[in-house]
Amino acid sequence: MDKELIIGAIDSSSDGILISDNQGYVVYLNDAYEETTGLTRKELVGNSLNDLLEAGIINKALSLTVIKDKKRVSTIHKYVSGKSALTTASPIMDSKNELIGVVSNTRNITDLINLRNELSDTRKLTIKYSEEIRRLREQVIEDKDFIYSSKEMDKTVRLASRVARYDTTVLIHGESGTGKEVLAKFIHTGSPRNEEPFIKVNCAAIPKDLFESELFGYEGGAFTGAGKEGKPGMFELANGGTILLDEIGELPLPVQSKLLRVIQERELFRVGGKEPINLDVRILAATNRDLKQEVLDGNFREDLFFRLNVIPITIPPLRDRREDIPELIVYFLEKLNRKYKRTVTISPKATEALTSHTWPGNVRELENLIEYLFIMSNKEEVNIEDLPTKIISRQMMNSTEILENSEEAKLTYLLELYEKYIIKDTMENFPSLRKAAKALGVHPSTLSRKLKKYNIEVKLEEE
Ligand SMILES: Nc1ncnc2c1ncn2[C@@H]1O[C@H](COP(=O)(O)OP(=O)(O)O)[C@@H](O)[C@H]1O
Ligand SMILES: [Mg+2]
Repeated sequence: MDKELIIGAIDSSSDGILISDNQGYVVYLNDAYEETTGLTRKELVGNSLNDLLEAGIINKALSLTVIKDKKRVSTIHKYVSGKSALTTASPIMDSKNELIGVVSNTRNITDLINLRNELSDTRKLTIKYSEEIRRLREQVIEDKDFIYSSKEMDKTVRLASRVARYDTTVLIHGESGTGKEVLAKFIHTGSPRNEEPFIKVNCAAIPKDLFESELFGYEGGAFTGAGKEGKPGMFELANGGTILLDEIGELPLPVQSKLLRVIQERELFRVGGKEPINLDVRILAATNRDLKQEVLDGNFREDLFFRLNVIPITIPPLRDRREDIPELIVYFLEKLNRKYKRTVTISPKATEALTSHTWPGNVRELENLIEYLFIMSNKEEVNIEDLPTKIISRQMMNSTEILENSEEAKLTYLLELYEKYIIKDTMENFPSLRKAAKALGVHPSTLSRKLKKYNIEVKLEEE
């Protein structure tokens, strides 16, 4: 065997190689080994690994484990020099299967470890950012159309578009479900900040103890459980753009003071933070409460009220702008039709009934009802009898054809109307006239007569 070739090969190997005999004495090592481990030939060759361990020149000797167990072992090891390497030590056996030595192979993985640490740091950052994006997404109101045709809303919208392009604070007032959020979004969209974030804060949804950190953020380690990196608050996330303080009437008094400070100074401190953060945020606030009254009752700071109430905009309740109702009905139906690829329409009589309803829950209630009707109707047209009775009875009471009749006739009419609905409903749920009559507790001939009277068509199975 060409000894020179073999020694040459070992010396040229890019892996560090150390050979020891079966007593644990170092016999040979190559340049790469010196480089990888920071140990030198001078320190090692001819010495026993046990002695080297004792002297502290090395801090681990994998080869001694191999001599004991006669099995290959691998480990990631940090040498005395501080360098890290992946080391594999393998037994060298002779032809009689006796152990004659150990060859230890080390590969520099400092770069690999750095890379791994970097990766783990990056992962942590990614988690942090995606958490922030998730929070942002929750706050960003999706783009929605703004539907109206009434004079009342026209006034409101005109005012809103006039103030949109100024950075002025706007206080939007209106009953729940009237479209305060939609209007706020409309103002942001019409402003020069429309490419910047629009962040909504629902003051009614934030637990009292979390207000400060949610709005203003916190520095790492500001309180127990605060996390190492800290977190920006909603104001910081909205920086450059617009913030909507929704349900501002729910803001606790101590937070009101802090908010006032932030609005006045145009800067904020994170909880536990020492550096002020400059703020360039346009503030919109919305409430269904009478804030003036809240001020009188001592629940809302007067100075904050004046700061917010620079431009007050009121959205009238839906019952005060009934002209919008038919438009909204068509708009919501069309949206559902597009989404579910159906062609559901609504009859004029049903639209009329919905238009005369009082809508205490305003547009939100109307939107929910349309969705309900869309789902429940198996026909392609929603008719008046599909509407909830509380809406129909009101419509019937108001409609002119009944108004002309006497009080008693009105009641009779309504009772008959209910009777018709009850029978219709029962007929849809029972397969035969006899069974339906039994369920209603009337004679089948009575039911049959009423079916004729009310002109109710039924598909009956053979009895
Ligand atoms: N003018 C409108 N056009 C279209 N949708 C509207 C309109 N006003 C309200 N909505 C819808 O009604 C629902 C309630 O509106 P929202 O702005 O959340 O009311 P508020 O904040 O006043 O309680 C939302 O789904 C919104 O999209
Ligand atoms: Mg709202």
